[in-house]
Amino acid sequence: MRQSSLVVVANRLPIDDSAAPDGACEWRRSPGGLGSALHPLLRHTPAAWVGWAGGTGPAPRLPDIDGVRMHTVPLSPEDLRDHYEGFANATLWPLYHDAVEQPEHHRRWWEAYQRVNRRFAEATAEVTEPGAVVWVQDYHLQLVPGLLRDLRPDLRIGFFLHVPFPPPELFMQLPRRAELLRGMLGADLIGFQRAQAAHNFAQLVAKVLELPATDRRIDVGDRAVRVGAFPVSIDTAEMAALAARPDVAARARRLRQDLGDPDRVILSVDRMDYTKGIEQRLKAYRELLAGGHVKVPHTVLVQVAVPSRERVGQYQILRDRVEHQVGRINGEFGRVGEPAIHYLTQPFDRAELAALYRIADVMAVTPLRDGMNLVAKEYVAARVDDTGALLLSEFAGAAAELPQAYQVNPHDLEGLKQGLLAALRADPTDAMRRMRAMRAHLRDNDIRAWARSYLSALDDGDSLLTRLT
Ligand code: UDP
Ligand code: G6P
Repeated sequence: MRQSSLVVVANRLPIDDSAAPDGACEWRRSPGGLGSALHPLLRHTPAAWVGWAGGTGPAPRLPDIDGVRMHTVPLSPEDLRDHYEGFANATLWPLYHDAVEQPEHHRRWWEAYQRVNRRFAEATAEVTEPGAVVWVQDYHLQLVPGLLRDLRPDLRIGFFLHVPFPPPELFMQLPRRAELLRGMLGADLIGFQRAQAAHNFAQLVAKVLELPATDRRIDVGDRAVRVGAFPVSIDTAEMAALAARPDVAARARRLRQDLGDPDRVILSVDRMDYTKGIEQRLKAYRELLAGGHVKVPHTVLVQVAVPSRERVGQYQILRDRVEHQVGRINGEFGRVGEPAIHYLTQPFDRAELAALYRIADVMAVTPLRDGMNLVAKEYVAARVDDTGALLLSEFAGAAAELPQAYQVNPHDLEGLKQGLLAALRADPTDAMRRMRAMRAHLRDNDIRAWARSYLSALDDGDSLLTRLT
């Protein structure tokens, strides 16, 4: 088995589970922030990626993709149901997002979570060079750092959580809270999106495990585990260059024509997830239409909602509700050939997304809770002429970095309506000042700056870092 000096471990491999007709595999930019963040970073580096290739068949042997080695971990139908759909996405995901949907607790799910985490740790131990760096990603794999440390004490192990880490009163609901915390503490560095999450974690470790803990350091026996906030970002320059490409600009012009050349285009791009606040946003838009504050066809809303985790009950219910709402709004306010909402569920590639970002006068990003939200950052990066307005939920991680956005509380329907109107009617000079400030922030704080700060904290400036960035 070939071994690597930097190994990323994430639940999903960044590949499509269906190979191209010629049998070749390609990177898949799955509609999720984790893949979007790591893709530009790892391409053409000597890294390896350990993950699941989708499906429940035997693990396929995959070729290197863009120079990155792909190591697959298989999931059985039971693993898929109880680990991925169960413990990861029906216990941890809702709990970590403020329990906006009720988390479920089942002993069978916990057993599967342990089993699958063990399988990931064993697969990683096999493909990692002595003394190498392993970077474990996200909530599906919180036990991997501890399990891997037992197998391979020679490794430097980092863990990064892309989603929020909840306040103690929510985390304390987990029947196996102590084991989850201990699993994470197998890492040398535990990274969160926001300082509040690091604080929540330290408080829980002190309370549940009775270990000496601050927001920056936790002592586990004779080991010091470092804790910190490392807000994830995007490849800002790449998105700006894509948006500036002549073919993307031409596509944007055509899209605007296809929409009927409206005065104002509002855009939202989400995975179909109850954390994204889609229902609340549609309700606000409906009330603005009903009150005559916005009018079809002068203003249109383009809502991209890519189906996600479709076998999980809460996601099925959400999709039905959203589609019912969209149908109702279009029925009430649309006209022949002039819908109020252009509702799209197919995933878009980067170039098409960049064209959409270019035509959006207002980008509405209003999650009820979100670890970061990279769509908000991509929109800003794509506004190469410094125009446009970002409507942003206070409850997205990105809000802490983008105070110049039009910030709203998505639970407050009136506030959401007012925020949307303010963004639609923004004074162009003020909007440009805000956009420039946000663009400057993202130029300095891009995905490479994120990797640099995380990996240098983990590995004290190892040469890996220079090869990566
Ligand atoms: N995305 C995409 N195609 C789509 C919709 C979304 O490539 O049709 C990408 C989007 O560009 C972004 C990511 O999916 O990079 C979504 O990340 P975000 O952090 O906004 O939310 P998450 O899905 O991780 O909760
Ligand atoms: C979020 C999570 C990722 C996940 C992605 C897509 O970004 O933080 O870990 O991969 O959503 O979700 P999926 O369930 O399709 O992997």
